[in-house]
Amino acid sequence: MIKKIGILTGGGDCPGLNPAIRGVWSRAHQLGWEVVGIEDGWNGMVEKIWRPLLLQEVEEIINRGGTILGSTRTNPAKIEGGFEKVEQTFRDLGLDALVAIGGDDTLGVARELSARGVPVVGVPKTMDNDLEGTDYTFGFDTSVTVAVDAVERLRDVAKSHHRVMVLEVMGRKAGWVAWMTALASGADWVLIPEHASKEEIPDVLDAMIAHLKSLWSRGKRYAVVVISEGVELPGHEDVTDQSRLDAFGHMKNLGEKGLAPALAEYIEKETGYETRHSVIGHIQRGGPPTVFDRVLATRLGVKAADLLNEGVFGHMVCLQGNEVRSISLKEATSTPKVVPESLYDLACLFFQ
Ligand code: F6P
Repeated sequence: MIKKIGILTGGGDCPGLNPAIRGVWSRAHQLGWEVVGIEDGWNGMVEKIWRPLLLQEVEEIINRGGTILGSTRTNPAKIEGGFEKVEQTFRDLGLDALVAIGGDDTLGVARELSARGVPVVGVPKTMDNDLEGTDYTFGFDTSVTVAVDAVERLRDVAKSHHRVMVLEVMGRKAGWVAWMTALASGADWVLIPEHASKEEIPDVLDAMIAHLKSLWSRGKRYAVVVISEGVELPGHEDVTDQSRLDAFGHMKNLGEKGLAPALAEYIEKETGYETRHSVIGHIQRGGPPTVFDRVLATRLGVKAADLLNEGVFGHMVCLQGNEVRSISLKEATSTPKVVPESLYDLACLFFQ
């Protein structure tokens, strides 16, 4: 019998977190539960930082980006006695269950806690859209919408100056954001990590250069190329340096590795066409969520509370088709979801 729950948001923020919090809160409130907000992701559980979540805090957040609870990339597994501290906070606050809203890292911690007997349910979020078992994660639609707008602005500049404009977008090791941005904006080329392995990249670059030259020869003397931050260009691969890894072992500040300038330089050298670059970075992660993300986040948040009410723990809520369902946290966090060959081919259809 649940009486009190905690909610936390962990990992990189993204538009939709606030609507998801509101969704969980509203169902919990309807069920007569008390809700506490755990601040700054897992750090709030380790350090016992929390506050009561009341109606006035959640009633007008459906359109707000970021997260009212704050977020960190804290990994209890990397802190001495980290999981024990989380469990202690759980007991001290008198919680009956926890809702963890996050990506693969945050939900990986939730999976571990669940295995240790803590009643927890996960809600998937990430602009990268790389979580297995859910067709979409909220944050993705908003990010792509922002990136499509960026391509359209860059196209104006490209056209005026007869240039190639390179746009680098986020997405870590999955190319979903780049792929959908290119498809939806009608960009002239896209490079994503799934289809730019060490073996493939020389051919992919040759094909891109040939395509740019064919555009110029046809009289369309401008182009926009989208590249995902996870791509590794020859001679420009990531060097694993421990000081640049976060608590979950991911490279920090991928946008600073200089991928977009390197690609722009390569294109200019190979074609002779003036080329500039832009890195959209965290601009993609802020601002009001799109309608799609608001509705998805709300549905997933409400479903998370429903699962707790049914006593279903150790699961992540998800979108499959147009149905909100749930899968085990183990399944959700096993392998990242990447762009399949067929969808990459669909984008390439427009590079003729
Ligand atoms: O995982 C979401 C994400 O936005 C990635 O696309 C990006 O590489 C990373 O977070 C950036 O993280 P931070 O906000 O810590 O720089």
